[in-house]
Amino acid sequence: MKIQTKDLTLEEKLNLLSGETIWTTNQTNGKLKSIWMSDGPHGLRKLQDTSWGTWETTVEATAMPNLGLVANSWDKEMFYLMGSTIADDCIDNNVDVLLAPGVNIKRTPLCGRNFEYVSEDPFLAGTLAKEYIDGVQDKGIGTSLKHFAINNREYDRLFQSSDLDERTMMEIYFKAFEIALRAKPWTVMCSYNPVNGVYASENKKLLDTYLRKTFGFDGVIVSDWGAVHNRYKSLKATLDIEMPNSTVAFDNLKNAYDKGLITMEEIDASVERILTLIEKTENDKKKTTTTPTERHENAVKISSESMVLLKNEDNILPIKNGQSVAVAGMFANRPPYGGGGSAIVKTKYKEEPLSKLLKDKLPNSEIKAQTAYEDGVNKNFKLKEKILNAYGSDVSIVCVGNDSTIEAECFDRTTIKLLPHQINTIKELAKVNENTVVLLYVGSAVDVSDWIDDVKAVVLVGFAGEGVNESVSDILTGKVCPSGKLAETYPLTLEDTYSEDYMGNGGAELYSDGIFVGYRYYDASDAQVMFPFGYGLSYANFTYSDLEVVKTGDTDFTVKYKITNNSDIDAKEISQVYVKDVFSMVVRPEKELKGFSKDLIKAGETKTVEVKLDFSSFAYYSTAFDKWHVENGDFEILVGSSSQDILLKAKVNVSLPNETQQSNEWDV
Ligand code: GLC
Repeated sequence: MKIQTKDLTLEEKLNLLSGETIWTTNQTNGKLKSIWMSDGPHGLRKLQDTSWGTWETTVEATAMPNLGLVANSWDKEMFYLMGSTIADDCIDNNVDVLLAPGVNIKRTPLCGRNFEYVSEDPFLAGTLAKEYIDGVQDKGIGTSLKHFAINNREYDRLFQSSDLDERTMMEIYFKAFEIALRAKPWTVMCSYNPVNGVYASENKKLLDTYLRKTFGFDGVIVSDWGAVHNRYKSLKATLDIEMPNSTVAFDNLKNAYDKGLITMEEIDASVERILTLIEKTENDKKKTTTTPTERHENAVKISSESMVLLKNEDNILPIKNGQSVAVAGMFANRPPYGGGGSAIVKTKYKEEPLSKLLKDKLPNSEIKAQTAYEDGVNKNFKLKEKILNAYGSDVSIVCVGNDSTIEAECFDRTTIKLLPHQINTIKELAKVNENTVVLLYVGSAVDVSDWIDDVKAVVLVGFAGEGVNESVSDILTGKVCPSGKLAETYPLTLEDTYSEDYMGNGGAELYSDGIFVGYRYYDASDAQVMFPFGYGLSYANFTYSDLEVVKTGDTDFTVKYKITNNSDIDAKEISQVYVKDVFSMVVRPEKELKGFSKDLIKAGETKTVEVKLDFSSFAYYSTAFDKWHVENGDFEILVGSSSQDILLKAKVNVSLPNETQQSNEWDV
């Protein structure tokens, strides 16, 4: 018999509004199923019991590539596959809700959790996260879209308020959530930080006015773990479940109810949503479709679709069979799978050394692997071996980057440079081998300006999960043609970013950059960047042509263009469609991403690509009209292989009759 709100006592209802343990909801005297919630965005992190647990008591699961890397695939199918694959581990381990994905905007490369997030652009972030949610929920497992909202640093994340204007919220920081909500995530997780001075967990305008009434979210709002400061105030803000279990929540709620500070109607509204969530978890869709081996294979496929070729001077990549290769850097044998914190995953997979994987794929090549690794002892001795190996090799590979002690939840980086000894290694090895290839195992943008001119090739490997070196060796040897493009800008230096090394004052941070975040900022400031948003090279080369924009409605257009693969290898190309408002009554970014397509184009083939635009492609958020607004006039449609490599342009005119456009006094 399905339990209904009326079947529960007041005590049972109030108990239901907080977790019973760290990971589970209240079973109300056995009347209800207890829901198990577990992290994380890059694979299941479940503890063997309901305690905070330890590494030893964490169950083993597939360590998938981090979302910060997969974002560079610009591939909806890969995001769906991420979600679907992780869902199988959830099903095998009786987890009902996966606490993912995170779509907070990458406002500064310093943010410690950027490896968990998707992009600096909300359209890309929301579009891809929607697929991830569909992938998980199509298997009968719930998700928790997080962290709502404006949580863009780890520094003082529990208390420092993010202060910003409504247009910026709507166009940048809410937009990724708004788009991802189309997948109807079963839950949304509120963030720790205050927004405009009120904790997200008790911010009624944030959770009720925006999330529920504006964006139409009717699911369960769960707190971040420990984000609730006053349970009855959070109930009034329509937060449904406080996690984890609390020793004070019941009394707080009971006292508030007795004093008339909360009503039975407010209590029942949350209880109803929780009962609906429980009902959703009791479904017959929970059937795994992959074996653990296939999950591993999915991790490798996804990461190989996501890695980015940043530099390839003289086309020294891919490495040819028979060329001698030197491999240096401890990440060649012990690559980081991901960043630190709640998103860690315990995998049973044992990584193969990159040198072995290269030998398998280059049987006629001599591969010289570094044998001793920096262990804090005499690094120079180790360096000497690396130099001897590199000297005389046809190609010298250097594996560097960050690990989970540098990029993690709870703290931000203070620099975006690599560690000094890694920079030194790159420069020393480049002196003895002009064909030096740097592999970057990093979770977010790094400053490569110290050494980029000393090396011939750079591959962004990222935090790529288990089997990372399988993907890397596939790309280095050309078995896979790199197709990733950056979902975040790589600035020249930290000083070129908007907020530089500013971390906030511990009280509040004013988002004075407004809507000018990421490429929107660099376009407006004319600041040079190292690698722009949307940038990535290939072993193939493409030309774009024949742009045609067909008007199919007042603000509906089909953008058509052709891409030719001029090489002798099949390859994928990510093309991007940006929109520019030629003249506007408000300040608007130079251009904004409003469409993209990733297409496999065979050697010598020409393919026609179509991208649809609609009202949202032209609109800005008007705080004068309190609605999205499109001004009549000309817009430019910009098609590019990156945000700074615009290859085709067209102009279109939008002329909306007044009744579908707010009238402005200058209209006669
Ligand atoms: C953490 C994180 C959140 C995670 C939760 C449970 O503090 O902010 O992303 O899902 O707590 O571990």
